[in-house]
Amino acid sequence: MKPIKLIITALISVCIGGCSSQKELQADAAIENKVDSLLNQMTLEEKLGQMNQLSPWNFEDLAKRVRKGEVGSILNMVNPEEVNKIQKIAVEESRLGIPLIVSRDVIHGYKTIFPIPLGQAATFNPEVVKEGARVAAIEASADGIRWTFAPMIDVSRDPRWGRIAESCGEDPYLNAIMGTAMIKGYQGDSLNDPTAIAACAKHFVAYGAAEGGRDYNSTFIPERVLRNVYLPPFKAAADAGCATFMTSFNDNDGVPSTANSFVLKDVLRKEWKYDGIVVTDWASALEMVNHGFCTDGKDAAEKSVNAGVDMEMVSETFIQNLKQSIAENKVSIETIDNAVRNILRLKFRLGLFDNPYVATPQTVKYAEKHLQTAKTAAEQSVILLKNENQTLPFTDKIKTLAVIGPMADAPYEQMGTWVFDGEKEHTQTPLIAIKKMYGDKVKVLFEKGLEYSRDKNTAGIARAVSAAHQADAVVVFVGEESILSGEAHSLANLNLQGAQSQLIKELAATGKPVVTVVMAGRQLVIADEVKVSDAVLYSFHPGTMGGPAIADILFGKVNPSGKTPVTFPRMSGQVPIYYAQHKTGRPANPTEMLIDEIPVEAGQTSVGCRSFYLDAGNSPLFPFGYGLSYTTFEYSNLSLASDKLTAQDTLSISFTLKNTGKYDGTEVIQLYVQDKVGSVTRPVKELKRFQRVTLKARESTQVSLSLPVSELAFWGYDMNYTVEPGDFTLWVGTNSAKGLTKDFSVSAL
Ligand code: NOJ
Repeated sequence: MKPIKLIITALISVCIGGCSSQKELQADAAIENKVDSLLNQMTLEEKLGQMNQLSPWNFEDLAKRVRKGEVGSILNMVNPEEVNKIQKIAVEESRLGIPLIVSRDVIHGYKTIFPIPLGQAATFNPEVVKEGARVAAIEASADGIRWTFAPMIDVSRDPRWGRIAESCGEDPYLNAIMGTAMIKGYQGDSLNDPTAIAACAKHFVAYGAAEGGRDYNSTFIPERVLRNVYLPPFKAAADAGCATFMTSFNDNDGVPSTANSFVLKDVLRKEWKYDGIVVTDWASALEMVNHGFCTDGKDAAEKSVNAGVDMEMVSETFIQNLKQSIAENKVSIETIDNAVRNILRLKFRLGLFDNPYVATPQTVKYAEKHLQTAKTAAEQSVILLKNENQTLPFTDKIKTLAVIGPMADAPYEQMGTWVFDGEKEHTQTPLIAIKKMYGDKVKVLFEKGLEYSRDKNTAGIARAVSAAHQADAVVVFVGEESILSGEAHSLANLNLQGAQSQLIKELAATGKPVVTVVMAGRQLVIADEVKVSDAVLYSFHPGTMGGPAIADILFGKVNPSGKTPVTFPRMSGQVPIYYAQHKTGRPANPTEMLIDEIPVEAGQTSVGCRSFYLDAGNSPLFPFGYGLSYTTFEYSNLSLASDKLTAQDTLSISFTLKNTGKYDGTEVIQLYVQDKVGSVTRPVKELKRFQRVTLKARESTQVSLSLPVSELAFWGYDMNYTVEPGDFTLWVGTNSAKGLTKDFSVSAL
């Protein structure tokens, strides 16, 4: 047994305010001096100009306004010559020569498209996620973009919400780790580096809790849940030095986020000491009139800046109204100065005053290294949900392979939701990759069966079935076109769209081994399709290199290692479903009688009075953290250095992990903790650590984890953030529903 020691105290190092070096502190002081001296020279109009972010429709109009100092930032200009031209106007023709920050939604890649963030989260690999963001920053900055509106770290527990695609899933800890990784990748080692782009933690806050999963809908999250569930990823982002934050569209408990001074001022600025920019979401200031929260644009501008917003995205209520508001004493000049300070500070930190232009032409886009990084990310994002009779990987017994389905060769669709700049011509689909990489091993018979994912015309299914009959195995690519997930793309029905389910069932009826590959923007309800398939791979839209990644998995060159970053429901009505639910007074028993077993005229209380659905039960189709491998792993010998601790101690956990199968493979080990009794009810389990561990066939290792007890703190009944003494249970295992377990206790000092 090869002993390796994995001390996992912090998966990504997080620099909290106090860890700056002396040199950094001096640099910060120098920047503050520059900010103040510039601020002293600015007119009120110029200050309001800095707070104005525009999306240009007409270059000449924009140029006029930039010249007059009416614009601080632009979004959506991606031609580097044009960017340099407008920047030159800002630097050389505006009175104070303040450069613009050019921004863009670079969410999961710029030109080289990476798996959607939900897929990146499925890798459980912050290093690969950080690398992806670095690649995106290098490519985007080459076009003059120095600010991206990512990462989205909204805890997302409802797949009806299309933006779950853009999230890192349902868990606060996973969102915090992956969001931090993205921030580090985008911002690089120093914002001053020309390839660094400022990150933006969004959407602040609770946007992922939209009622009913309908985008932009209201949320009703009380402060304790906000602090225990929705805020932690944002706290991690602030600690990681995320340069900007974006307010969210939703109103929470009646207060639109853009005017929520509790989260923007009390939490973000005062508690977290945040000194970056807070920008509104697209017109979210003016939308407060639609919310019925503001009477008009002026009221909206006042409520936004008084709540702590620094910059307004596109709706221009600040620049149009705040001069008058100041004259009327409704907004103070200190409020404006603070906002402008935050904006200028970032421009200095980005080095824009010294280096405002982008060098052209650039050749970094789609660099071979970028494509390889995207392929690695795609490989690690794919989740093996089922593999009966070792259907996968394909062996050399498979001489003819039927490749079927609307997603097999859909280069645009597999890129996923945020691809303003992605180009389908550069996307490698599974069909192309299988032919190119494995065409010498298998004869490929391709039939789409359906033209696109929503296609209800079943005319092509017969041809697909006939191809299946001629083949040794079938791989059918189904899922969602990219338009079905992402912003404003909520769904009430989470089943496979169109006739895709029928397609799979008819292929399965041929008796040939059927591998179903789902490429989608969310976890879909696929219980029936899983049942009839021999193997199932789930690939959240995998991006440019999805094809080669999936091809290598199918043929065994790569062993799948992805894990579900969200819980998969059996039926849409189970949603929202997530592993960290609070303990109820009447938990379900695993043996509950379900709808088909209940006798006619059964007595009202005869099925028990427990918390579950009569038709779906309580268990998910696949729990959070689930994912198989071509090999198998065994956990044993769990031990704790001590099971009696205080809040100052660190829990030391150790166990043996063995690869018991015949393939080399990677397991994502997971540590969950339950606080048995709290001053308020607590989640059934909470993820506290995870780590990828790679082992050769038959190899074992000793894994050591350490968890400071302080990380068991939560906001309790008195709204204090503390570790409450008492009894705890921990699990170490392969997913959130399975594992070795031990109890421990924490005593008061
Ligand atoms: C609206 C979206 O909610 C936000 O995430 C995005 O960054 C902005 N539009 C800018 O495009």
